[in-house]
Amino acid sequence: MEKRIIFATGNSHKMVEIKEILKELNIPIYSMKEVGADIEIEENGTTFEENAMIKAEAIAKLFPNDIVLADDSGLEIDYLDKAPGVYSARFGGRDTSYDIKNQMLLDKLEGVPKEQRTARFVCVIAAILPDGTKESVRGTIEGRIAYSIEGENGFGYDPIFYVPEYGCTTAQLSPQEKNACSHRGNALRAICKVLESRK
Ligand code: IMP
Repeated sequence: MEKRIIFATGNSHKMVEIKEILKELNIPIYSMKEVGADIEIEENGTTFEENAMIKAEAIAKLFPNDIVLADDSGLEIDYLDKAPGVYSARFGGRDTSYDIKNQMLLDKLEGVPKEQRTARFVCVIAAILPDGTKESVRGTIEGRIAYSIEGENGFGYDPIFYVPEYGCTTAQLSPQEKNACSHRGNALRAICKVLESRK
């Protein structure tokens, strides 16, 4: 049977980044939707690691002969005790636009000086291999919450996530620039190494 990777995400923005970075493995990669597993998985863990593994386990049950990967990611703002964290997608309501969610976060940080606006994007990728082995890796990118919404690229909280090294938000980076330094890029490169070593 041909080896394949199934990535447990329904997010098409993420699938583009994922396929680009994992292409060097030379293993075909499919999203849940592409293999007909369009199921809702309840993310009821309290850490990124727990949530990523919950998603991977749900898909691995359906596809035990494939390599299953799943990610969980979010934004941690130090001033807000690392919120929204694992609740990033749910913060302010799942169906609320990111223009509104981003403005809500800017309002919470109104008047907070630059040194106290530190934040990071976190991405954990969990892997379950056909022999049942479980692995997980964590990637991060450090930055600060900006003072205003800037940039059109990316998605989610990108327009308020300022990266000092680049002097702009992640929504002002090209997709290639973002992949090269992002939490998801870093986690994908790490899981790539793990899978390469198991080939
Ligand atoms: P997940 O799909 O459960 O991992 O949800 C992660 C949530 O965190 C997303 O819906 C976004 O709100 C936020 N997030 C994760 N990664 C990024 C990113 O690269 N840019 C902007 N927001 C992100």
